[in-house]
Amino acid sequence: MATTLRPADFVNGPVAVPGLRISPRVAFKMAGRYTLPLVPAPPGRQVTQESMSRHAIQGAHTDPTFTAKPRSTWEVVRRVAVFLRPYRWMAVGNMGCALLSLGFTFVYPKLTQFVIDDVIGLGKAEYLTPVILAMFAAFLLRDLFNSLRIRINNHLEQNVIYDMRRAVYAKLQRLPIPYFDQRASGDLMTRVIEDVNSVERILIDGTEQGSVAVLSVIVVLGILLVINPLLALVAIAPLPLLAVGVLWYTLTAHRRYRAQREAASAMNALLMDNLQGIRQVKSFVRERHEDRRFAARADALRHGTLRVMRAWATYSPAMSLAAGCGMVLVLWVGGNQVLQGPLTVGELIAFLFYLFLFYEPISRLHGLNQMLQAARAAGERVFDILDADIERAGADQAARLPITTPVRGEVRYEKVRFAYDPNRTVLEDISLEARPGEMVALVGPTGSGKSTLVSLLPAFYEYSGGSITIDGHNIRAVTLESLRDQISIVSQEPFLFNGTLRENILFGRLDATEEEMMDAARAANCHDFITRLDHGYDSRVGERGVKLSVGEKQRVSIARAILKNAPILILDEATASVDTATEKLIQEALERLMVGRTSFVIAHRLSTIRKADQILVIRHGRIVERGNHESLLALNGLYARLARIQNTTFIEEGFEHLDELVDRPS
Ligand SMILES: Nc1ncnc2c1ncn2[C@@H]1O[C@H](COP(=O)(O)OP(=O)(O)OP(=O)(O)O)[C@@H](O)[C@H]1O
Ligand SMILES: [Mg+2]
Repeated sequence: MATTLRPADFVNGPVAVPGLRISPRVAFKMAGRYTLPLVPAPPGRQVTQESMSRHAIQGAHTDPTFTAKPRSTWEVVRRVAVFLRPYRWMAVGNMGCALLSLGFTFVYPKLTQFVIDDVIGLGKAEYLTPVILAMFAAFLLRDLFNSLRIRINNHLEQNVIYDMRRAVYAKLQRLPIPYFDQRASGDLMTRVIEDVNSVERILIDGTEQGSVAVLSVIVVLGILLVINPLLALVAIAPLPLLAVGVLWYTLTAHRRYRAQREAASAMNALLMDNLQGIRQVKSFVRERHEDRRFAARADALRHGTLRVMRAWATYSPAMSLAAGCGMVLVLWVGGNQVLQGPLTVGELIAFLFYLFLFYEPISRLHGLNQMLQAARAAGERVFDILDADIERAGADQAARLPITTPVRGEVRYEKVRFAYDPNRTVLEDISLEARPGEMVALVGPTGSGKSTLVSLLPAFYEYSGGSITIDGHNIRAVTLESLRDQISIVSQEPFLFNGTLRENILFGRLDATEEEMMDAARAANCHDFITRLDHGYDSRVGERGVKLSVGEKQRVSIARAILKNAPILILDEATASVDTATEKLIQEALERLMVGRTSFVIAHRLSTIRKADQILVIRHGRIVERGNHESLLALNGLYARLARIQNTTFIEEGFEHLDELVDRPS
């Protein structure tokens, strides 16, 4: 099997890909630049092209999430124009400057005609200097207004980009979690960063340059018709040809741009995914495999961009050619007229200058059409976000009131049903009642639905049947903000923001004092390790908190939740990654914290939940056993089995033993 090998295949040094045939010439050329790959592959397991192809190296078009709903150019323009509204005076100023600048452009051909026919032809030498000065003044004013226009334009442009980006970001924050479950972060980033820029361009450049160009075409056509109607008709002879070209381009270009934007998104999404999984890439030594996957996406983008450019490379010169034909025709017919007498040389030259001013904006309009089609494709992607339904969109949004505070913390689930995907029920017939201040523990095999169950309470996902109430208020009848204010969550996968430890803990309550923050950190048993760091609370944690151990991250996220001080607490495997001695310390702190709060504790380690008021055993999305530790052991069911496997008594003894070890002076 022969395969084309590209230089990119060699960037990582020696590689052995059996089955690849490299011509001696290629191998020779590569030898100079790359470490040669011609190492014999080790026997045994081999990575062949075939085996690699089983792990899809996908192009851009395999993932439907990179696409957007098609929209008409008109719709995109109309929607974008809304962003222009606050700056209408800037837009007017911009347009005014453009028109003035254009007006002064028209002076030159007229004065040239005067110089040739009157000053030179009729020998009116005394007019030469004033005419030249007037011309100079006209150019000066043209460029002054142009400079002013560019400045206004830049401000307008940046303001609109700023507003649009903020609108998209604000919207993103308010979209429901299932929306993000379905999308790639890299795709969303591309939409916020690249697509917003591209959309905005139609607006500023499109409206201003477009209307100026249209206006100058009309004005110049008028001038041409006045100067010489016959020549004017000759000049516009190529227009039908231009119209056909424009029509073809307009009807087809957006498809190419759409594919190109999708390819860009797909590449960015892969990059983002890869950067987040860089440790996995390295540990499985998949750098080369990742190179190929990236190459496939980058290649799709290259092809997409080339397709766009290829069409432009045909369209744009074809349109210039049509314009060129017009110029030649005019010179031909005009030249004859000069020879036969009815036209002066000066008039012909002025006509040709104006003709240039006629075709130039037409070619600018072609450029704008290109931009418009690009913006249409980008706009579809931006407006997809702006049009997505925010959490709990709907008519009853306004009817919701904040939950009555103070919240006692009585939580009741009644026959709750939930499915992420309609075909597969994850929770079925979940009924539970947590009285204020109670600790409810959830145990059960992995994947049984414990995290899902608690994520329904802050309405991260909306249950599909039954009801959930807090203090008797249905959680659907209260505002999301007030609902979530009542709930502190330590999630299963601790996540820290890229910033300092202080910022991360204060995220729980932005106005907390230094003392309150440290108290929370002490309770979560992370104060000590933080103060031991070089920069203490100002130490940076890295992206997602990578510079901390998982146990440290968990403790910081517990501190954050403690600081929030909400009446309902959800701890989803909050102490799963800390050692048992530390866990016991945190447990004690949490127990103090849980007094007077309703808490839901998920744990695999049964020692964590022994003291719970109720223990619910979940299996396959149903509550199969409920009771307290003793009653469940007596029941001798799943819980008792889990307890036997974990041998909790041993762990408890271990605790005491560890305490002795810790306390003993070394
Ligand atoms: N965002 C999601 N989209 C679709 N399905 C999901 C999603 N999150 C979880 N699931 C599925 O729902 C089921 C329950 O998942 P859940 O996370 O609630 O389990 P769990 O009991 O918390 O397990 P673990 O003990 O491993 O944390 C699993 O089968 C899982 O595949
Ligand atoms: Mg879970």
